[in-house]
Amino acid sequence: MIRKYRYGNPLNTEAVVTKISLEQGSLPYVKVDEVKGLQFTYELGERDRIYGLGEAVRGINKRGWIYVTKCSDDPVHSEDKQSLYGAHNFLMIDGKERFGIFIDYPGFITYDLGYQKKNQIQIHMEEANADIYIIDGEKLKDIVHEFRKMIGQSYIPPKWAFGYGQSRWSYMDEQEIREVANQYEALQLPLDSIYMDIDYMERYKDFTLNEEAFPNFPEFVSEMKERGIRLVPIIDAGVKVEDGYDVYEEGVENHYFCEKEDGSEFRAGVWPGIVHFPDFLNPNARHWFGMKYKRLMDAGIEGFWNDMNEPAIFYSEDQLKEVFEKLSKYQNPDMGVNEFWSFKDLVLTIQNNPKDYTRFYHTMGDGSKVRHDKVHNLYGYNMTRAAKEAFDLIEPNKRTLIFSRASYVGMHRYGGIWTGDNQSIWSHLLLNLKMMPSLNMCGFLFTGADIGGFGGNTTEDLLLRWLALGIFTPLMRNHSAIGTRRQEAYQFEQVEAIRNLLGIRYGLIPYLYSEFMKAAIKDEMMFLPLGFEYEDDAMAAQVEDQLLVGESIMIAPVYQQNATGRYVYLPEGMRMLRMKSLDKIESVELQAGHHYIEVALDEVILFIRPGKILPMATGAQRIDQVDDTMLSLYCYGENRSSYEFYQDDGFTTDITLEGRTSTITVEKGIVNSDRNSSYTIA
Ligand code: GLC
Repeated sequence: MIRKYRYGNPLNTEAVVTKISLEQGSLPYVKVDEVKGLQFTYELGERDRIYGLGEAVRGINKRGWIYVTKCSDDPVHSEDKQSLYGAHNFLMIDGKERFGIFIDYPGFITYDLGYQKKNQIQIHMEEANADIYIIDGEKLKDIVHEFRKMIGQSYIPPKWAFGYGQSRWSYMDEQEIREVANQYEALQLPLDSIYMDIDYMERYKDFTLNEEAFPNFPEFVSEMKERGIRLVPIIDAGVKVEDGYDVYEEGVENHYFCEKEDGSEFRAGVWPGIVHFPDFLNPNARHWFGMKYKRLMDAGIEGFWNDMNEPAIFYSEDQLKEVFEKLSKYQNPDMGVNEFWSFKDLVLTIQNNPKDYTRFYHTMGDGSKVRHDKVHNLYGYNMTRAAKEAFDLIEPNKRTLIFSRASYVGMHRYGGIWTGDNQSIWSHLLLNLKMMPSLNMCGFLFTGADIGGFGGNTTEDLLLRWLALGIFTPLMRNHSAIGTRRQEAYQFEQVEAIRNLLGIRYGLIPYLYSEFMKAAIKDEMMFLPLGFEYEDDAMAAQVEDQLLVGESIMIAPVYQQNATGRYVYLPEGMRMLRMKSLDKIESVELQAGHHYIEVALDEVILFIRPGKILPMATGAQRIDQVDDTMLSLYCYGENRSSYEFYQDDGFTTDITLEGRTSTITVEKGIVNSDRNSSYTIA
């Protein structure tokens, strides 16, 4: 059951797609305080747990820290941070009471989840304009399901986007990209896409190409496509200010860029130098910008990633001017310590300065003007919406890949997200795992982290262990920053181990795709904390380093350097598969309880639940070569096992379960299915 309450005069974020009538009276569960903006207080029980908040640092249970939903361009995802790139205002309290809360408010919200006071939640927003939804359900999964139904179906990419992708910031020209493809092919490493970072553009101008580096782009795109590899270019939020550049000129002419209150230009510095920010909250500007993707689509491009759309601001001209004025006052070298700190901070705080987010305005659909900071969290959302709405016009019968860095609940209908600029450190491998269910709760199903880590230098063992998690995430992309150690698969000694891991990914595709599609269509989670499934098992609720992936399996990645294995908790007896490659799979049945499991660097383990089936295909180099009619079925237990299998052509936009799902059962060694496929019980 969902109850909706309204405070003040909230802006319609379009996060919610179902019509829910307003309740009168006061909000249940929480105490509301309207003294300064809006504040909710909730008294926590000693053992209450808190779930949700999507893209955020720390654990699956979010209790004990203070979070701020504010889309932030911050590459240091350390535990002491309060905000990352997404703003996902959905929480569930589980304990003496159980309920979900979604706060539909596009400005900044602070969630003190037992930080100031151990047993108190305090949620605060600066303005008392918000729609608040209280969601009840018997189980945690039911609450998520109700919420997800309310915010609409999650974005579904084309199937090829589930293939492995290689990315790196610094592929400078077509020869360099071709070389990546050559290496992957020569070593028979599966690959479906190569990402093009900012260097493909002419001086970082959106929808342009560096013609010297890519003299005949459409030809290059089709050459790669013939090899079964799709190119995925980046699009940045800021449009370079430059006379003669049509995107800039059209934007200025039509007032499609954000402006200052008095209508003058807002000028910020990002990759291309001075840019204007398209006003994605203005429907006309959204349409205009979205249709620009067509240029690249006409050249054969079928997927994009949207970046820097918090929006990230290196500096604004106004801010720079103010800072220079202030700096000139520090010319006396004999500074006291306080002076020194403020002097130093002056420069350091230029980037993404909060004041800059108050300097520009949006023109909404109804012509009203809104200051950016009040709707900050809708910016990346609407950039991605611009793209997706245009794709639906340009390619109505085919899915196009799109994922974004910044997001808000609602954007999950228009695209996926990647989790931004993580680092090549072990804790970020674990953070990747922990974020998956929280993102799923908030509707983000097509998601993944930069495998191997973006910033800093990776190590071979980190990459191997990270791949062993990444083979399960819908978006599986290896990406790294310019200047860091190269981390393409072929840069390492243990290429064979990487090839085998990638092979396992492709073997898992029929299952992963089927689970993804069912989760999207049924508004469910694909990555589940153990406690969501085994609700009566107090130990399961404590486990934050294992996840259920879909209906049949549990994963338990190794996330510590030099570890030769790890402890795994089994809430019930399961069958463990130890996979070195698709041809080298051992299996052992394990009883419920704790086990120490050895896992070599070149192995992956997974666990099959009783009564469930894991269908596995034979390997492939490309997604479209994965044969989902020749499957090995792994099940566990004496009793009947069954699996609801979703299959489609990987492109269709007519998404239904009907006609696309079949049931496979295995009983006493006999397989039953209404599909004409070949099955082997493994
Ligand atoms: C941002 C993106 C990163 C990209 C870089 C250069 O930091 O998050 O993925 O490589 O910009 O475009």
